[in-house]
Amino acid sequence: MKILFYDTKKYDRDSFEKILPEYSDLEVEFLEADLSPRTAALAKGYDAICAFVSSDVSEKVVECLAVNGVKLVLMRCAGFNNVDLDAANRCGITVLRVPGYSPEAVAEHAMALALAVTRRIHKSYIKVRENNFSLVGLTGMNFYGKTAGIIGTGKIGAAMCRICHGFGMKVQAYDMYRNPSLDFVEYVDLDTLLSTSDLISLHCPLTDDSYHMICTETINKMKDNVILVNTSRGALIKTEDLITGNRNKKFFGIGLDVYEEETNNVFENREDDILESSITARLLSFPNVIVTSHQGFLTEEALEAISRTTLDNARDYENGTIKDINAV
Ligand code: NAI
Repeated sequence: MKILFYDTKKYDRDSFEKILPEYSDLEVEFLEADLSPRTAALAKGYDAICAFVSSDVSEKVVECLAVNGVKLVLMRCAGFNNVDLDAANRCGITVLRVPGYSPEAVAEHAMALALAVTRRIHKSYIKVRENNFSLVGLTGMNFYGKTAGIIGTGKIGAAMCRICHGFGMKVQAYDMYRNPSLDFVEYVDLDTLLSTSDLISLHCPLTDDSYHMICTETINKMKDNVILVNTSRGALIKTEDLITGNRNKKFFGIGLDVYEEETNNVFENREDDILESSITARLLSFPNVIVTSHQGFLTEEALEAISRTTLDNARDYENGTIKDINAV
């Protein structure tokens, strides 16, 4: 099977090339360009293409892929909101994805953000590089003995609960469904979680219900000096309200791996650009805010799991043994 990879970054190529020798039946070529109506025809002569979260797999693209003989779309991610599944069905193209790879990767990044912002690591790193060994402004807070409030206790939220438990925190959670593996967690209603947690970490998906769940109304319910972490989806938080809340000194620290305006930034180097909107810049102007660029998933283990499942999907398709669980 010949597979054309779109939107390849160095870390994708490295992780796939590491395991490709185990898949000698698959022939792979990497393209830096992302999949779009202009680049879809490059797939002529390939049996499958591999795409990512920001690839355009719309009707027009799917039709072009089909005309050029592509039979399989391999998404090397969990999400598939960018794929026109009806068009794929109609054109006889199978779409497979990677439903889960490493919840611990994201949970560990959430804790990394929480610790960094709480112990002011982002400030001390810069200060010491400038030979400024003063401790003024670096006073942190212990997590031991404090209360963690985890919103959403699926795969990633459960991993975050276990990490917080290991830190000696009392762990409470809010979710519509209890996770039976978390016998040390106390489930509470959202208001209780907001008003009694010292660290709040968001791990629920973005839905109509959860859109802007963190806004002025919910921020006002939080304890003063709370630490807020979001590694889930930017629009869970109404950024303007977060900025107002931070100006009102509600937060000890805020750690964000995702934020509302990230779409044009994610995985791109924009260091020479003058950014049009000021929300990201305003967030970054606060000394108690750390922003990373949607890198929660980015560990060697997660990348290897993504590579392996993607190539297994290709092989299963070739062998006619597609597991329903992977089929979108
Ligand atoms: P999951 O599906 O295993 O768990 C989600 C949990 O949230 C479920 O238990 C569900 O009942 C709960 N939930 C749904 N709506 C809720 C609400 N309104 N309030 C409280 N709980 C609610 O999902 P998983 O794998 O744990 O992922 C969580 C989120 O993490 C994803 O939706 C995604 O947005 C984000 N993510 C971020 C990554 C990153 O690199 N930063 C990478 C992968 C996922």
